[in-house]
Amino acid sequence: MGGLCAKESGKKTKKKDQIANASPPVEKFAKTSQSVDNKKEDSAEYKELLSNSGSQQISAQTFAFRELAAATKNFRADCFLGEGGFGKVYKGRLESSNQIVAIKQLDQNGLQGNREFLVEVLMLSLLHHPNLVNLIGYCADGDQRLLVYEYMPLGSLEDHLYDLSPQRKRLDWNMRMKIAAGAAKGLEYLHDKATPPVIYRDLKCSNILLGDGYHPKLSDFGLAKLAPVGDNTHVSTRVMGTYGYCAPEYAMTGQLTVKSDIYSFGVVLLELITGRRAIDNSRTAGEQNLVAWARPLFKDRRKFSQMADPMLQGQYPVRGLYQALAVAAMCVQEQPTMRPLIADVVTALNYLASQLHNPQIPPAQSTSRSVSFGTPPRMLKGKQGESDSQEKSLENSSVNQ
Ligand SMILES: Nc1ncnc2c1ncn2[C@@H]1O[C@H](COP(=O)(O)OP(=O)(O)OP(=O)(O)O)[C@@H](O)[C@H]1O
Ligand SMILES: [Mg+2]
Repeated sequence: MGGLCAKESGKKTKKKDQIANASPPVEKFAKTSQSVDNKKEDSAEYKELLSNSGSQQISAQTFAFRELAAATKNFRADCFLGEGGFGKVYKGRLESSNQIVAIKQLDQNGLQGNREFLVEVLMLSLLHHPNLVNLIGYCADGDQRLLVYEYMPLGSLEDHLYDLSPQRKRLDWNMRMKIAAGAAKGLEYLHDKATPPVIYRDLKCSNILLGDGYHPKLSDFGLAKLAPVGDNTHVSTRVMGTYGYCAPEYAMTGQLTVKSDIYSFGVVLLELITGRRAIDNSRTAGEQNLVAWARPLFKDRRKFSQMADPMLQGQYPVRGLYQALAVAAMCVQEQPTMRPLIADVVTALNYLASQLHNPQIPPAQSTSRSVSFGTPPRMLKGKQGESDSQEKSLENSSVNQ
């Protein structure tokens, strides 16, 4: 498993960062010699983004700093929503439109900040989907860099999975599958519908924001990359992202493909199923890294029920749990080519989200069909009439790690 990405999940680090100091010597050397290429890489990417934006409407508005200061009552503490690698996020009300927004203020000491700011503005101006957070506008006044997003009233998925306050409702199984399916649809848009395709690179629970009815949207595109086109199979780039979510091949070689996002998606799905953080240093050594903990358990169906989040209190469909674990296992496979395509993941999760579990029914009787403990986890059975080919492609993916 890659332990090379600099940020740790579950901890608020100040900067969204590169791997540099966590890299083995070989990797460090490779990074140093790549730094000129990286600048070229960035400027080529900006050009491509800008040339794409030329043909499409950039819908983001520009704001003066004073408008955003007024919206947040001068960035008052009671408007503070949270802080990530980019800077602090505040809730505000725009005086011009009365709209409630979330305003992210770039940490002015941020080294990567300006690049991320530009990429975020350009990417989000071009990408529009019901499962992507909407960028309303930005401010680039003097040294100030701020991003203005639609306000997501339920905060991040991370806030609903971990360290729950007593008044916060725990997420039930149906809600978890709905969130996973929605996040997968956002990723499908980036991989399969956007032109050129986009590699998200920063998929994790804190970047899945929740709207009314727990409608999920992906946020934070500052690390996103345009996917390779033509004969190129990958983009070589600095390794960035968040520890615990980075695909091992990307962490080791810097070779980025859409399959790196599939790995990160698998980690998020595992978090949703197990209620365990991608990295949790408070656990014993063998349980700190979620994927490393889960891999041996994937091989033994009798252990599947031990993987379910105890907060679910046994309220999940047994077959649904198996199938969701099968999808997660396929996504986090070491071999990127063995990981499924996002379209297949969407099909599988749409199916799982459609199988509503009735929490009134005790777990043992809750499946519509009797559960065969001999059913291998790779078998993902769709409803009658559902796409056979998609089902097969999931069945054919081995879950053996
Ligand atoms: N549009 C939004 N609406 C409501 N809350 C938001 C919005 N954007 C961010 N937040 C809140 O602010 C917190 C910090 O977000 P931010 O994206 O800066 O950090 P992060 O996701 O924890 O880390 P990273 O910088 O790696 O993305 C989020 O966890 C969320 O609770
Ligand atoms: Mg974020």
